[in-house]
Amino acid sequence: MQAGKVLKEGGLFFRQWLRSPKSMGSMIPSSRALGRAMARAVRWQPGQTVVELGGGTGAISKGLMEAGLPKEALLVIELDGELYRFLREELRGVAVVQGDATRLDEILDRQGVREVGTVISGLPMVGMPLDFKRTIVEQSFRATGEDGVLVQYTYAPFPSIPPRPFGLRAELAAYVLRNVPPAAVWRYTRDVAARPESRLERAA
Ligand SMILES: C[S@@+](CC[C@H](N)C(=O)[O-])C[C@H]1O[C@@H](n2cnc3c(N)ncnc32)[C@H](O)[C@@H]1O
Repeated sequence: MQAGKVLKEGGLFFRQWLRSPKSMGSMIPSSRALGRAMARAVRWQPGQTVVELGGGTGAISKGLMEAGLPKEALLVIELDGELYRFLREELRGVAVVQGDATRLDEILDRQGVREVGTVISGLPMVGMPLDFKRTIVEQSFRATGEDGVLVQYTYAPFPSIPPRPFGLRAELAAYVLRNVPPAAVWRYTRDVAARPESRLERAA
């Protein structure tokens, strides 16, 4: 990437962080290497959409497309108006929506999105209340169906969405050193053993 472009993206990201450190969660954008690592954890087949929550300046989105996800298969949701406008220019051909990820149900409905394979989250999760995490988890698996996938990265040494309270299985899909700071990619699926009907099935 050209140095001028890196500076422009980095500058925009940093300015938004100064304005709203909690919702940005980081001072600098993720690396493409992190985006590609997240892409490897994605479940997707033609006809489905991959939804990205918290697009920022598009680092993860570009990593997903570099890994082969068609641009028409991606829907990016970004809360911040300035970042949203940047993304719309930067990710030509990708559906970019300005909105709150906690209203995922409504957004997907409005966009007419029917089949979601994976929800990718770049939302800052560490330190967020459990209710926020629950809202994101519930709406993500409503969108994907119970056999879908939620992918979240974190700089923390533990999964930033605790799997057990939400009936999830968490798998460390990658640890990416080529990111500042290094980041862990967690891949969440529904923990089938935690579903009440499975316990009944096992007992039968
Ligand atoms: C840590 S940054 C990640 C940006 C980008 N995905 C990356 O990895 O470089 C978090 C992003 O989530 C956005 N965000 C925070 N809360 C959000 C919400 N409730 N709905 C949608 N986006 C949100 C922020 O504006 C910011 O762009």
